Amino acid sequence: MKSVRHLIRDDIRAMSAYQIADVPPSFAKLDAMESPAHPFEGHEALMREWRAQLASAPIHLYPDPAKSGLQEALRSAFDIPDCAAVALGNGSDELIQFITMLTAKPGAAMLAAEPGFVMYRHNAALYGMDYVGIPLNGDFTLNLPAVLEAVRKHRPALTFIAYPNNPTGVCFARAEIEAVIEASDGIVVVDEAYGAFNGDSFLPQAGRIPNLIVLRTLSKIGFAGLRIGYAASCPEVIGELQKILPPYNMNQLSLTTAKLALQHYGIISANIDSLKNERERMFAELGKICRLNAFPSQANFITIRVPDADLLFDTFKQNRILVKKLHGAHPLLEHCLRITVGSPAQNDAVLDIIRQLYCQPTDFL
Ligand SMILES: Cc1ncc(COP(=O)(O)O)c(C=O)c1O
Repeated sequence: MKSVRHLIRDDIRAMSAYQIADVPPSFAKLDAMESPAHPFEGHEALMREWRAQLASAPIHLYPDPAKSGLQEALRSAFDIPDCAAVALGNGSDELIQFITMLTAKPGAAMLAAEPGFVMYRHNAALYGMDYVGIPLNGDFTLNLPAVLEAVRKHRPALTFIAYPNNPTGVCFARAEIEAVIEASDGIVVVDEAYGAFNGDSFLPQAGRIPNLIVLRTLSKIGFAGLRIGYAASCPEVIGELQKILPPYNMNQLSLTTAKLALQHYGIISANIDSLKNERERMFAELGKICRLNAFPSQANFITIRVPDADLLFDTFKQNRILVKKLHGAHPLLEHCLRITVGSPAQNDAVLDIIRQLYCQPTDFL
């Protein structure tokens, strides 16, 4: 049997594949910041309209993302400034990949805060960029002096800042990000994957600051299965990005669904509001348990530190709840778990399990 293994790049052979959790359908899936329910659930007329539109979508034709009308729908739903150009990606993951490719000249550096979204570092490795990871402070705030020092020293061509950050949920101070953009000659990507759950955004600045790209996604607001992300920036940058994005990177069914959903944005924003309320309720309840530390989150998940992450993770699993164990991924994440905010019933189940493990009878006296 012939082998082609020797033809594959050594560094890729040494990598391990991204592990998508294998979850039985009966589990509450609280590991990947997906929405707890189908976003159109309970809206029968919309469901019918959606099915009809899908049935007549031209799946025999290649999609034309630029002329699909999705960009216009995004612009009006999210108030993207007219001066900004927009590129669509098959999830913002794809845009992270192609933005990296855009700047990966030999010797170019990428900078990101750590722990952060794992795909930044992964793409730096894939495209041969020098990766500079700057540790956060112990409370997961940005170590701004260290970041600015690294900007001066390494002059990164590309900096990724997740606003709010994943996997910590903490949102850095806006003024700190402005300082990083100001100090950088390179492109700064403000990744607002969780922006809908935060009170602040850099979208109004997109197209106005030459080295700023604002990255967003529909994944966390109910549509992870559609794989739709978008980047807003100056026409100069987006024009270069468009040259390397695959021309048919979106599909007709996703484009059709996203356009329809954005026409009914009230439904999406009601779902976002109830998740934000649930996040606040959970945070308040977790705050009553002295044997754990919940980090303040502006996203649709909460990261907690507990006395024994393995024990809690396994107990969740025995109760058919999957969360993300962060322990072991970075020294700052010792005994941390990341829990997606789910439905009220799922969140109650999470709280019950945590209370059973970590509450002393005296905690509520
Ligand atoms: C910070 C951040 N950026 C980007 C992504 C990618 O999102 P998607 O490819 O689903 O748009 C994620 C997903 O978890 C994320 O956490």
